[in-house]
Amino acid sequence: MSTGTVMVQPAQRVRGRVRPPGDKSISHRYALLAAIADGASTIHGYSTGADCASTLRCLRSLGVQIHEAEGGPSAGLTIRIAGRGIRGLTAPADVLDAGNSGSTLRMLAGILAAHPFRAAITGDDSLRRRPMRRIIVPLERMGARFTPAADRPPLTIEGSAHLTAIDFEPEVPSAQVKSAVLMAGLHADGVTRVREPLPTRDHTERALQAFGAAVMRSGNGVSVAGGQRLRACELVVPGDLSSAAFWMMAASALPGSEVIIENVGLNPTRAGMLDILQRLGARIEVSETRNGNAGEPAGTIVVRHGTLLETHIEPHEVPGVIDELPALAALATHGGALSVSGARELRVKESDRISALAEGFRHMGADIEERPDGFHIRATRRLHGGEVHARKDHRLAMAFAIAALGATGPTTIHDAGAAAVSYPEFFSVLESLRA
Ligand code: S3P
Repeated sequence: MSTGTVMVQPAQRVRGRVRPPGDKSISHRYALLAAIADGASTIHGYSTGADCASTLRCLRSLGVQIHEAEGGPSAGLTIRIAGRGIRGLTAPADVLDAGNSGSTLRMLAGILAAHPFRAAITGDDSLRRRPMRRIIVPLERMGARFTPAADRPPLTIEGSAHLTAIDFEPEVPSAQVKSAVLMAGLHADGVTRVREPLPTRDHTERALQAFGAAVMRSGNGVSVAGGQRLRACELVVPGDLSSAAFWMMAASALPGSEVIIENVGLNPTRAGMLDILQRLGARIEVSETRNGNAGEPAGTIVVRHGTLLETHIEPHEVPGVIDELPALAALATHGGALSVSGARELRVKESDRISALAEGFRHMGADIEERPDGFHIRATRRLHGGEVHARKDHRLAMAFAIAALGATGPTTIHDAGAAAVSYPEFFSVLESLRA
């Protein structure tokens, strides 16, 4: 991945149509489940981001045959995955490399927990700083062994062919943890249940059903019975709302703007941002055009500039916007004000996003207060631009670029190449929208 430096000039407005890349969260899940299904699956619109390539690389090292082709009925990649059936992965010859992708490492650990061989898995320097006890604790309770059971990668997992079902309540709301436990639960003896402290994205539940598994939901719990086989299928990944978020912020911020986002995922567990944007004064129209493929709704969003207001994001809203907080912060540098609390998890993402956002925006001239579990940002003055570091974090690189559009001078973003983790086309789309 390039770590290049990009200079972003201010823009008067943004206008145009965008088809965002395939959803990153959904792409990972379809690839992982296809790998353990019976038969060959086809996935259209698979994310072009480096993170989803990391999932494919790990699966290949575990004996899975994958063919990639450009195009297909949607933008992005078309992937064919020859499923190896339940417990059909083979021991890797080398250490698995999840790159920058926490989703790859954590969810794959759930699948490896059920395979009776040893596999070591690591990642780049950002991933090697991220907490893993959250998956180690439940997967060990089910019967897998981690040596050493350290909180940070690299991890060595020794799976078991005889996992025991558990009833598990994660300490922090996390879709990755929920997914790792459910994926292990598919292979366990009995019914595995995860009780969520707050609801998180439900792509795994929907994907499991698309592959023919029964998933029970009741209250804050989601359960799967072990021993179910998955059936290969053909799936279309909708566009990534978290990537689209950056254009939605730019259009909301700059007078005279209008951006039409096509074929974007509208799963309600991911769409908390739409409500917050409206509270901030953005003018948004959403129309659902496709309700169905694998139960993932998708549609079109039109965003126009509106006068920006002030809002607060409450702790219970955080899981629904966790990946959009950097983009929302960028919007609040243009006008209005935004405060967030209950978002301590931001400190253990690809970077410490609270301190990195505060540092970067402050360098650009923003009025931002860093808090232990959030931040408060007020557009009391126009940014002047300057020099910022994305700390190899894709969402920071893109958030700084959106803030830079409203500055009086240019902004130099170091590590801007990190955008390729989820959105390799980001900077070229930015140029096309400002034209
Ligand atoms: C993701 C869940 C979230 C999110 C991440 C993707 C997923 O992480 O921040 O970018 O695909 O399940 P957590 O599960 O750690 O909250």
